[in-house]
Amino acid sequence: MTTRVTINGKPQALQADPATPLLYVLRNELQLNGAKYGCGMGQCGACTVILDGKPVFSCITPLAALEGRAVRTVEDLGSADKPGRLQAAFIKHQAAQCGYCIAGMLTRAQALLDRHPHPTDRQIVRHMEPNLCRCGTHHRILAAIREVAQGPAAGAAHAPATGAAA
Ligand code: FES
Ligand code: FES
Repeated sequence: MTTRVTINGKPQALQADPATPLLYVLRNELQLNGAKYGCGMGQCGACTVILDGKPVFSCITPLAALEGRAVRTVEDLGSADKPGRLQAAFIKHQAAQCGYCIAGMLTRAQALLDRHPHPTDRQIVRHMEPNLCRCGTHHRILAAIREVAQGPAAGAAHAPATGAAA
């Protein structure tokens, strides 16, 4: 069966069982390896991507739920050579230790900033709660998001870098 979905601005016709989790398609078919497999049960957030503007756990999002919709992955937020503003803030605040949670943290934070360019600390904390970091870098992650949230032009914080590798 074919599922038509836009991923990082690019239309895709995906041939796979409709029950296949989006995470598997991203990593195994499209070589978008930013989103990670952590728990596979919607409990850690390592696999978070943005679906029609909202953060979702791609490990429990089947292709059947994606027809005609738009997905953004961390690869669309910037690249190693040209990090987006949120990525640059994560680097500046050294928010990553092992880094396993970071793609999910970035995409979840991006979804918030897209809807609320200047969230309060409380809004940031509540929004980020579903994503876990077992290295305990939450304070640094929050500092990075806060810096972007308090910046002059939140829109510039997440200029898409469609197709770029993260
Ligand atoms: Fe998807 Fe943990 S791998 S929520
Ligand atoms: Fe290691 Fe978050 S940096 S899990």
